[in-house]
Formats: sequence, C-alpha cells, structure tokens
Amino acid sequence: MKHDAIEKNIGLMIILIIVALSFGTLVELVPLLFSKETNEPIAGLKPLPALELEGRDIYIREGCNTCHSQMIRPLRAETERYGHYSVAGEFVYDHPFLWGSKRTGPDLARVGKRYSDDWQRAHLYNPRDVVPESNMPAFPWLFEDEINPEVTGAKMAALRKVGVPYTDDDIAGASAAVAGRKEIDALVAYLQQLGTLLQSRR
Ligand code: HEC
Repeated sequence: MKHDAIEKNIGLMIILIIVALSFGTLVELVPLLFSKETNEPIAGLKPLPALELEGRDIYIREGCNTCHSQMIRPLRAETERYGHYSVAGEFVYDHPFLWGSKRTGPDLARVGKRYSDDWQRAHLYNPRDVVPESNMPAFPWLFEDEINPEVTGAKMAALRKVGVPYTDDDIAGASAAVAGRKEIDALVAYLQQLGTLLQSRR
C-alpha cells in the first residue's frame, strides 16, 4: 500500500522521480568524466592553427552546423558512408562542439581531403555548379571578405583559458598567419582537416 500513498501524493512522487533520475544520471555520467577514453585527445590531435580556427568561426557564423552534423554514429549504415565512427577524443579541443543532429546535408565529420580545394571552393561559390540537384545555399561573399587579423590571437588566448594548449608563439603569430587571407581560404582549410586523424571511407 506504500505504492498507493506515493501515487496519490504528487509532491512526494515528484521528489522520488527526481531522486531516481539523479541516480541514473550519476551512474551514467560520472564514470565518463574520469575515463581516459572520453576526455583525452586522440593521438596526433593538435589545436587548430590560426587560419583553420577562423574557418571554424565562419562555419558557425554561416550556420553550416544547422544543416550538417559532425558526428558519425557507430552504425553500419553510417560507417559505410562516412568512415570511422566519431570518438570523444577527437573533440576535446572543440569549444563549442558542433556535433549537431540535423542532417539536411551529409555529415561532415570526415569530409577532410574527400574533395580537392578547388571542388570545395566551387561548391561553396555555388553548389549547383558541381552538384546540380543541390539545395545548399551559395556563399559567394566568402570570396570577397577578408579575415580580421586583429582578433585571432585573442580567440586563441580565450580558448587556452578553457584548456586548449595554444602556445605563446601560436598566439603571437596568429594575426600574421591570417592577415590578407579571404574568408573562403579559412573555411576550406578548416573543412580539409575535418576528421582526417581517423580513416575516412572515400
Ligand atoms: C540549408 C542547408 C545547408 C546549409 C546551411 C549548408 N549546407 Fe552544405 N550541403 C547541404 C546539402 C543538401 C548538401 C548535399 C548536396 C551538395 O553536395 O551540395 C550539402 C553538401 C555539402 C558538402 C559536401 C559533403 C559531401 O560529403 O559530399 C560540403 C563540404 C558542405 N555541404 C559544406 C557546407 C558548408 C561549409 C556550409 C556553410 C558555409 C554549408 N555546407 C551550409 C545543405 C546545407
């Protein structure tokens, strides 16, 4: 009859539900925080160089992540199409994560080196020029606008505060590395390294 008492007392029921859910969360989450596999970078992972870091910011600004995920699930259909499933250690320097779940376009977690730089540029200038049936938007302004070199170093310094191991040299050299470069150069550089540390399908 204790069960009856709980079911008829909504206040008590809410409290017990919260207790049950918190316990479940603790059991699932806490071990992950201490597991090497989930919080250590995979072999060879380095913080993004200045140009690629700017490319990542353009990727976010243009909303690429609203149509493209960066997360290959460990399912046959996904690994056959995109390559090795995503592992946590690939993303330890990503702030914020761009995993996403909306796939209007294909997953981009391992798109690096899948196409040439020229293909990427043509595709971003007007997707229909290379994929006639595409409904991806065109981004022609990236070919005109230059990167603002004054803030790149500050971005790196901010990332360093949250644990990305940029060196003083990286930060000092940042503005020279992006000065005079067009936004398209940065975005393509960013795309071309995505997921290349683990093997891709094509
Ligand atoms: C409105 C949704 C949408 C947005 C926003 C979008 N894309 Fe796409 N993207 C698509 C679709 C649909 C395709 C598949 C057709 C094609 O290849 O053009 C695609 C394909 C791609 C491909 C080829 C992937 C492959 O494996 O063949 C790349 C690379 C890509 N997009 C990059 C980008 C980048 C970078 C941005 C932001 C500047 C972006 N996309 C923004 C919808 C989108």
